[in-house]
Amino acid sequence: MKVTDYFAAELERFNPFLAQQLNQAAIEDSRLKQAVAYSLLAGGKRVRPLLVYATADAINISQNQANHVAAAIEMIHAYSLIHDDLPCMDDDDLRRGRATCHIAFDEATAILAGDALQAMAFEVLSQTPTDAHQIVKMIQIMAKACGLIGMAGGQSLDLEAENKTATLPQLQKIHAAKTGALLTACVDMVCAMSHNGKAADELHQFAEHFGMAFQIVDDILDVTADTETLGKPAGSDEALNKSTYPNLMGLTGAKQAAEAHIHACFEHLNNSNLTTDKLKQLTRFVLNRGH
Ligand code: IPE
Ligand code: IPE
Ligand code: MG
Ligand code: MG
Ligand code: MG
Repeated sequence: MKVTDYFAAELERFNPFLAQQLNQAAIEDSRLKQAVAYSLLAGGKRVRPLLVYATADAINISQNQANHVAAAIEMIHAYSLIHDDLPCMDDDDLRRGRATCHIAFDEATAILAGDALQAMAFEVLSQTPTDAHQIVKMIQIMAKACGLIGMAGGQSLDLEAENKTATLPQLQKIHAAKTGALLTACVDMVCAMSHNGKAADELHQFAEHFGMAFQIVDDILDVTADTETLGKPAGSDEALNKSTYPNLMGLTGAKQAAEAHIHACFEHLNNSNLTTDKLKQLTRFVLNRGH
């Protein structure tokens, strides 16, 4: 069974909710709205929303509340991908099986679509049906995860590490920031709506390992999978001489590193004493995914 089958009910609810958020935010049709819709509603695995729903399931947070967190983080993710693909960054022309945003539209529109998505994400998050104190906490978590010590900071380090051999600690820092921060925020934001501190701590540590495993597998797939399966250009990392796990320790070493993080994920889930079937299912998917 594919992860999308296991989570079919979540995705059937999530995708229309996401589209609805965009349509509410922009009544008028415009070129910028078309670019945002093109990148946001064009598929993708929706791993971050699924992580939000699986966490909500484990700690009994309602789907209604989780919807807003899931939509907000997917908007941030979509923005990060649009900018990641720009000529000044990874310069890729294919994403989710289609032309990247700056190819389908133009560079200025792609930059602005990313900007608009980031702002919209905070708007959607601020409308979560929960108390104001929890909303402020979630906004702080997401802001930190996007910013200097989160995704943007990590992307900057990733670019600086091109044409160099990053050490393992440097690479861990890059991966934790550029990819881990948003995945950890998925879990931490849902936990901000609950009062189970012990579980929140275990889930936070689970998410850090989940993020590391996710990016290591992304690096591996860049080497082992083909462009058609990936829906983005295979070999992009090698072409840019990126610092990656396969580059540093070979494919076997990278696979072992991913497995070690997955193992740690399960340990933290077990320590949480929660029912975490969905989180475990999603964790298995990270290791076994083909794209
Ligand atoms: C790609 O993320 C960028 C990384 C952080 C590795 P995903 O692999 O989640 O991309 P989509 O959303 O499924 O297209
Ligand atoms: C991107 O990492 C991480 C982001 C914050 C978008 P990659 O550059 O490896 O992602 P892909 O392979 O282009 O999806
Ligand atoms: Mg990149
Ligand atoms: Mg890239
Ligand atoms: Mg990659």
